[in-house]
Amino acid sequence: MSLDVRGVRREFALLERELGGRPLAYLDAASTAPRPRAVLAAIRAYHEHFTANVHRGVHALAAEASDAFEDARHVVAAHIGASAAELVFTSGTTEAVNLVADALRLRPDDEVLSTCVEHHSNLLPWRRHARVCVLPSLADGRPDLGELARCCTPRTRVLAVHHASNVLGSIAPVRQLSAFARSRGLLTFVDGAQAAGHLPIDVRVLDCDFYAFSGHKVGGPSGIGALYLRQGAQDALDAPRVGGGMVARVEANGCEWKSGVQRFEAGTPNVEGALGLAAALRFLRAQGARAIELHGRGLSRQLLEGCRRLPGVRVLGPTSADERIPLVALALPSSGVDAETVARTLSDAFGVLVSAGRHCAHPLHDQLGVEATLRASAWIHNDEDDIERFLDALAGLLA
Ligand SMILES: Cc1ncc(COP(=O)(O)O)c(C=O)c1O
Repeated sequence: MSLDVRGVRREFALLERELGGRPLAYLDAASTAPRPRAVLAAIRAYHEHFTANVHRGVHALAAEASDAFEDARHVVAAHIGASAAELVFTSGTTEAVNLVADALRLRPDDEVLSTCVEHHSNLLPWRRHARVCVLPSLADGRPDLGELARCCTPRTRVLAVHHASNVLGSIAPVRQLSAFARSRGLLTFVDGAQAAGHLPIDVRVLDCDFYAFSGHKVGGPSGIGALYLRQGAQDALDAPRVGGGMVARVEANGCEWKSGVQRFEAGTPNVEGALGLAAALRFLRAQGARAIELHGRGLSRQLLEGCRRLPGVRVLGPTSADERIPLVALALPSSGVDAETVARTLSDAFGVLVSAGRHCAHPLHDQLGVEATLRASAWIHNDEDDIERFLDALAGLLA
């Protein structure tokens, strides 16, 4: 079944907004996605009908809020094929990477095997605790599986990889990577920030130990995210933060941690965020994961074909739409206007919203020898007309 894009578009109030008298072509979903009305309604319902803290109170509203929060955990876990007992709410992908990197008891001479494509959030938290070693890439930026054995040493503890790149749009071969990691006794951490809104995900099939994503990139609110902790990997983790909510009992000189995922959720959680995230994922489920994937592939194809026709423009990443999410980063001709100016002009003169810069991936831009890129990233609310408007406007600016 294909995605009902017109119906989907009606669910985004943001698309009613105009810029300079033009409707928005919102092509910046990789930065943050627009929120469907169902998300706004879920947050509002919490504020208007059952505001209460969770797992602390005994009154009726506290029970309702706690039930809704745990129900949200089930929905979020199901989105990635996990069980609720393996799903920790975080503030986003960045916090999730930090949580695992802090909790793993790494030593400074331990090694984390990663790629040069990673977002800073899947690089810097590891660097604080261990030596990060870079797996070489193929020409299109995807990890070179043939180099895995050479790059893995007796000190390698973790393989930390993106599922989809926020610059190249490439989908990494996570199954093959995690199979290698498993055969060498490494733990696999997958940064799913850019994949979770586009691809069907099953952490059991991916066979990773940790999988993280952010609410605001799947239509949920900011400040909420999810972290899958494989049941068998949880014992390898210290609780990185301590305080209320994660202890079963505290005495004058000691305490007993709660068991399970609540051990990793100290303090009052972002209740409305969790409810909003669950509403976003229910909305995605109603559209169908496969339909979303195919819609994305169609937009990818259109973006790739259109961008290839732009004179002097280099399209980064894989050449086939089958290997990508609907996101293209472009190196513009060095003789022309810089990417930031182009992005601002696209916004103000054409109502086309894209991003420009180094997209929190400085090492990748350095390796590619590109100062900055212009990035268009589409999602379920985008149609062919949005992509055409972007391509036409950009062609005009580069002419
Ligand atoms: C691939 C990737 N990883 C991690 C992050 C960080 O996500 P957040 O800022 O929501 O924590 C991003 C955000 O752009 C991303 O694209």
